[in-house]
Amino acid sequence: MPGEEGNPVATPDAVLTPAARDALAYLEARDREGRTNNVPRSERLRAVDPTTARLMAWFIQSQGVRSVLEVGTSGGYSTIWLASAVRLRQGQVTTLEWDPVKVELARSMLARAGLAGFVTVLHGDARLLIPTLPGPFDAAFIDAEKEDYPTYLDLIFPRLAPGGLLLADNVLSHADELRPYLDAVRRHPGLQTVTLPVGRGLEVSCKLPA
Ligand SMILES: C[S@@+](CC[C@H](N)C(=O)[O-])C[C@H]1O[C@@H](n2cnc3c(N)ncnc32)[C@H](O)[C@@H]1O
Repeated sequence: MPGEEGNPVATPDAVLTPAARDALAYLEARDREGRTNNVPRSERLRAVDPTTARLMAWFIQSQGVRSVLEVGTSGGYSTIWLASAVRLRQGQVTTLEWDPVKVELARSMLARAGLAGFVTVLHGDARLLIPTLPGPFDAAFIDAEKEDYPTYLDLIFPRLAPGGLLLADNVLSHADELRPYLDAVRRHPGLQTVTLPVGRGLEVSCKLPA
């Protein structure tokens, strides 16, 4: 638990090194540019809202999470936050992305942030990659195509450690599209879930002990 001897505690922004801040600032600027200029959707970074990222880093850091699975890397914005949060405990983030251009950008951003050693970026379709990952993961973050969220729930739940956190973005901004996911997590007998009105809406679900 946080505060125990030998268990480092830091406030969310304190987990960021100057190199991580620099990489995040670059990605925030690129994300803004993509949203304001007519950049095709497939080329936009669609990074998570900074406050949501900060809150996730706080959860990860304060809960002593060491292993994180991320679905949807894009340029690595959320990955940098997650990796910064697990870094103090020598944890690992496994992040999945099928767009080769984004995989390359994320890898270069993680190197620039000094976090490459804390992240495995896997290139491929997350729906095919997750079944190859044994887990268990202490936390997972879903931030990919909305229609696939229920599939990710089915694939991730058995790979989540008891007490593990399942985080899903866009649940308020895309509430209709994510209705099947929201119904599934809220009815799931093995999960307790709450919607946080931060950024585009973050669904935070906790896996109950067996
Ligand atoms: C909303 S963006 C992720 C943003 C990222 N989490 C961040 O904060 O910077 C969604 C990403 O998921 C990727 N993606 C969508 N479906 C995927 C799939 N089936 N397998 C792997 N990546 C996928 C997209 O290419 C896109 O880069």
